[in-house]
Amino acid sequence: MFATMGALGLAPTAQAASREPAFRAPSSGDFHLKGKAAAKVVVVGGGIAGLATAYELGKAGYDCTVLEARGRTGGRNFTVRGGDSTTDIHGVKQTARFSDGQYMNAGPGRIPQWMVTLDYCRELGVPIEVFTNVNANAYLYNEKAGMKAPVRYRTAKADVYGYVAELLSKATDKGALDRQITADDQERLLDFLKDFGDIGDTLDYTGSPRRGYRVDPAAAGTPGEELGSVPSASEVFASGVGRYFAFEFEYDQAMLMFQPVGGMDRIPAALTRAIGERRIRTGAAVTEITDTAHGVTVTYTQSGRTRSIEADYCVAALPPNILAKTAHNLGPAVQTALEACKPSSAGKIGLEYRNRWWESDHQIYGGITETDMDLAHIWYPSYGHQGRRGTIIGYYNTGSNADAYAALTPREREARAVAQGVKIHGEKYRTELATSFSHHWRQTPYLEASWHSLSGGPDAPVFAPLNRAAGRVYFAGDYLSYADAWQHGAFTSARKAVTALHTRVLG
Ligand code: PHE
Repeated sequence: MFATMGALGLAPTAQAASREPAFRAPSSGDFHLKGKAAAKVVVVGGGIAGLATAYELGKAGYDCTVLEARGRTGGRNFTVRGGDSTTDIHGVKQTARFSDGQYMNAGPGRIPQWMVTLDYCRELGVPIEVFTNVNANAYLYNEKAGMKAPVRYRTAKADVYGYVAELLSKATDKGALDRQITADDQERLLDFLKDFGDIGDTLDYTGSPRRGYRVDPAAAGTPGEELGSVPSASEVFASGVGRYFAFEFEYDQAMLMFQPVGGMDRIPAALTRAIGERRIRTGAAVTEITDTAHGVTVTYTQSGRTRSIEADYCVAALPPNILAKTAHNLGPAVQTALEACKPSSAGKIGLEYRNRWWESDHQIYGGITETDMDLAHIWYPSYGHQGRRGTIIGYYNTGSNADAYAALTPREREARAVAQGVKIHGEKYRTELATSFSHHWRQTPYLEASWHSLSGGPDAPVFAPLNRAAGRVYFAGDYLSYADAWQHGAFTSARKAVTALHTRVLG
């Protein structure tokens, strides 16, 4: 009856619920039909791709061992809490002094609704909450463009949309679109623009309550006082604030977005539990991968000792720039492909404050302030609202901006980020600061990259050797996906490797 209701459109159908590409997890039942048995698999790398591989293969009873070079699983999915320490490739050690309940996601921090990452959260029982990616009350500040003070998103949007609407409507009114659209459509366009830009029948943009208020509307007798001094069209365009508005149109950045409650590392923690700790060796840095005619030998060091493990198959789920430096016999085409994956830089600093002045003084509850300074983005926390303390991401930057901060000591990074933040938020940005922790992926041992750029995309011919097995070795990672720098890329790449391996084992 349910199926019939579905056909009539009265109930959701399986078709409506399922999205491409479909994935069917291996199951032990698959073997009964074929008379085959699950194989032994060594997974190199305990990041999201490696964990997802062991997790999915584990559903069919594969005997998986995960080798993770670092002291914990998760890879770039790293949540920093008080007491956590890192040592970078130059030997610089930091220990986080965050208070109880405060954390920063040093790697992934936001998840769009369409990504399979949320399906894994559901399956693994990881609770999620909204991550606020855009906030009308957050600021825009383009210092290099000559802005004297930060402006709220809502104000900038009202002004940019207002002037765009004015200019386009006047052009339409003067007949500039006569060849493009009919008179009827011009009327419809004008109606839309008047509404979109809040321009009156004169088609002049003269400001709008959408910009915000100096005195907010309140009880009778207090109608509110709008923000004054509307900038000219020239000033608005020269400020460059409009460049930030397309961000929220992106398929991977549009609201709503989500985060696990309590920190992004709830995902690798849940995967680690599901796989079983006994199957995961941390502190195990792989030194050699050898494909033999009948299996794979993986050599690694752990606690100063050299060990090796034999398996039927290997899934190499470590960063391509690290694998490129690891001894292997997978052939020159594999090596060329690995070397063609170019590592990128990104860094973040967490700034813990003694109070949540951005909420109480600025009415900003989450979201992102955008700047043209080298801190790039300031993220306000999407958790713990109206609590006592709070932790801001004081910079999230990439490329040369990240490299510039990485070259500084942790103290210098804090000083530079704070000096810039003061320009937006005033002295509390400095005086209320309790502690900070900075993290840079290009300088992180066993990763040495925030993500990778693959010229021509993962299906360019040079990368073909990584998209199939090299003997008994499969490759997985976000870099081999169209969602690089997203956990979704790691999960879907792992699923692809798992499906190929399982299909082969089933014969
Ligand atoms: N996923 C990361 C982020 O959201 C990196 C990234 C940024 C990837 C923008 C694609 C686009 O910040």
